Amino acid sequence: MRMKAITGLVDDPCEWQWKTDAFLRLTIAGAGKRPGANLFLPLGWEGVSLDELAQGSFPAGAANLIRERKPFFDWVVPYSDDSQTEQMVLLNGEPVFDGGLDFRGYVGTGRAVNGNSDTATRNAQAHELLVGAMESISEGFALYDADDRLVIFNSNYNFFKDRDLRVMRKGSRFEEIVRAAADHGYYPAAKEQKAPWIDERIRYHNDPKGLFEVQLCDGRWLQIVERKTSSGGTVTVNTDITAKKHHDEAQRQAQKLQALGQLTSGVAHDFSNVLLALECNFEQLKLAVRTGKSPWTHLNACGAAVEIAQGLTQRLLAFARRQPLQPSVVDVNEILRELHSILRSTFDETIAIEIVPAASSCPVLVDPTQLQSALLNLSLNARDAMPDGGILRIDCRSGFLGQDWASRHLDMKPGSYVTISVADNGHGMTREVAERAVEPFFTTKEPGKGSGLGLSMCYGFIKQSGGDIEIESELGRRTVIRIVLPKVETGTDERPGRPRGDPGS
Ligand SMILES: Nc1ncnc2c1ncn2[C@@H]1O[C@H](COP(=O)(O)OP(=O)(O)O)[C@@H](O)[C@H]1O
Ligand SMILES: [Mg+2]
Repeated sequence: MRMKAITGLVDDPCEWQWKTDAFLRLTIAGAGKRPGANLFLPLGWEGVSLDELAQGSFPAGAANLIRERKPFFDWVVPYSDDSQTEQMVLLNGEPVFDGGLDFRGYVGTGRAVNGNSDTATRNAQAHELLVGAMESISEGFALYDADDRLVIFNSNYNFFKDRDLRVMRKGSRFEEIVRAAADHGYYPAAKEQKAPWIDERIRYHNDPKGLFEVQLCDGRWLQIVERKTSSGGTVTVNTDITAKKHHDEAQRQAQKLQALGQLTSGVAHDFSNVLLALECNFEQLKLAVRTGKSPWTHLNACGAAVEIAQGLTQRLLAFARRQPLQPSVVDVNEILRELHSILRSTFDETIAIEIVPAASSCPVLVDPTQLQSALLNLSLNARDAMPDGGILRIDCRSGFLGQDWASRHLDMKPGSYVTISVADNGHGMTREVAERAVEPFFTTKEPGKGSGLGLSMCYGFIKQSGGDIEIESELGRRTVIRIVLPKVETGTDERPGRPRGDPGS
């Protein structure tokens, strides 16, 4: 076998480096710097176009990858040595782009495959089958070894469009790849909170439970499923769920329209009641004036009707997230302490009230009066759900909520949040009721007992304050309503200590 000494940065003496120019013509890389290294280019390959080689002896599909200037991995390619004996080499190559745009050629490594020609051919065929199978699936697929180094992956796994992102190669550690992608702005969610986002991604990789969803900078959504292999490695499958996300969004829009219909008819119904009351009392007023009777009963009734209408308008504005708010930085623990005395004087003894503030301060930027009124509303709902008495427990905690949580909540980003949970052991809700509970005018209470505006008002207010509401309920057992508000960074203790995946955990 004729060999040409070249230098290389590779430590493996069997591995050699090659490169091409922009016209794909092959040469040995870095010749002359480290003479004597056991590196070679197969006989007759010097100056030959990679494209030409790919047409002839490369695996199927190779020419396409090269034409598209994509990287290729572990291609088994036959060549003849000096004595015309067929040998095999394993080739890896990746394109080089100047400034990310102009194609400059390929660089790569090659390695002689041991064994006689038959074995090598069989290995090559098996390898080609495996690569073919991996390339035929629409998912991105990758395998990392126990040392967390990339062993094998298909081209759908390599979603990086940035051609300078050379980290996407065999042997790269998972963490390196994720960091590089985050640094290059591939994950919009990691833009503001890079370190916690990366931490969470790596945590999922190390202990994959459930699914991980991530949006890419081109707008696509990937659902990532990772599983540990028996040898301690990790298998990753990335599925493009952009279409499903769009479908979910369309469904959400449809639900919004349905809720809007409900809102409109609710408003019409409540206001027509007010108008009816006004109309009746005006008639009575006219009669009273005509007959010289006292008008006061009817004037007072008109005043009361106007007040009802005002209250309704205010709650509608709250739901529409348009109520005028006066936010200030308040410690939720303080609000809970004040709430305790209000609740104690309102509720009878059959309801035990447990208020558990957080161990450290929980500063949030909200309108404190509105927050108290929201918590009062939730407490009243809890009381109504426990007609025979029970326990109302309100607690507060703060912590980091990650990508997993954020992707399950509309308009929410990973970050530090304060969570206030209002829990009761009352009759709970069915799934249908829980799904509709925040809709304005939705109530299961008898006429006169419920307006159906309590939760919708809370929801509107909390969303207007940059937070979210979660409902968890078990029919016949319990209900927990959680208010999640962005924690104001005070600069003292705020690095996610023990990050949590869920405010309820
Ligand atoms: N803690 C709770 N336990 C059981 N059901 C609840 C609870 N909170 C709210 N709900 C359900 O959600 C509905 C809507 O609540 P809300 O908007 O406050 O309106 P209202 O209390 O006037 O009915 C209630 O009618 C009830 O069915
Ligand atoms: Mg209510």
